[in-house]
Amino acid sequence: MSQQSTKKPVIDVRLATEDDLASLAEAGRAEKGFGEENLKLQEGGDYLFVLGFLDGTLAGWVVLDSREDTELRPEMRNLLVYPEHRRQGLGIALSRFLERAAAEQGFDEIQLAVDPDNPAAIPLYINLDYSPTGHHRTVVRKVVAKDGSVSEQEGRDAVYRKSLRINA
Ligand SMILES: CC(C)(COP(=O)(O)OP(=O)(O)OC[C@H]1O[C@@H](n2cnc3c(N)ncnc32)[C@H](O)[C@@H]1OP(=O)(O)O)[C@@H](O)C(=O)NCCC(=O)NCCS
Repeated sequence: MSQQSTKKPVIDVRLATEDDLASLAEAGRAEKGFGEENLKLQEGGDYLFVLGFLDGTLAGWVVLDSREDTELRPEMRNLLVYPEHRRQGLGIALSRFLERAAAEQGFDEIQLAVDPDNPAAIPLYINLDYSPTGHHRTVVRKVVAKDGSVSEQEGRDAVYRKSLRINA
């Protein structure tokens, strides 16, 4: 009897290294130079570029930006799980990794900004006990039309926060 369909994948979450650049380029999910740019920022020590793997395959990433000039410091940003690997717990695992890292850096809370109409991310953050602060941030979103043309549109992301203090 095969149990393959119900087998849970092994989730691994860790900091990116130079050795991951080939897999990042191969995956072709981000603009050219994305891996190099994030690794360079990571060298500063207050910026973490974190990768997620399912059964050893690169399946997503997230960034923790704790640089002094970061508006929502520390900010979780760029959370992405590849479409074919979603709903297997990697989004939660990546977020929790960042929460632990931010707490270890001495922060009492972690923040993020999200499109209020994002149908996957909002339930994920609510599940993880983030709550809206009532503040918003103006962003420029890329909109892909049916004919494949890309345009830019101004929008507003909602700011969410989570306390990292136990019982807070
Ligand atoms: C948001 C995103 C990272 C979630 O990643 P994921 O690995 O699928 O998330 P998880 O499997 O850890 O989901 C955990 C929980 O979040 C909620 N959730 C995730 N995706 C959902 C969806 N499409 N619809 C409703 N709830 C969803 C569910 O409560 C889910 O638990 P469940 O599967 O037991 O019901 C992923 O959909 C993604 O990359 N989206 C595009 C990029 C993006 O929007 N990033 C966030 C920017 S702020």
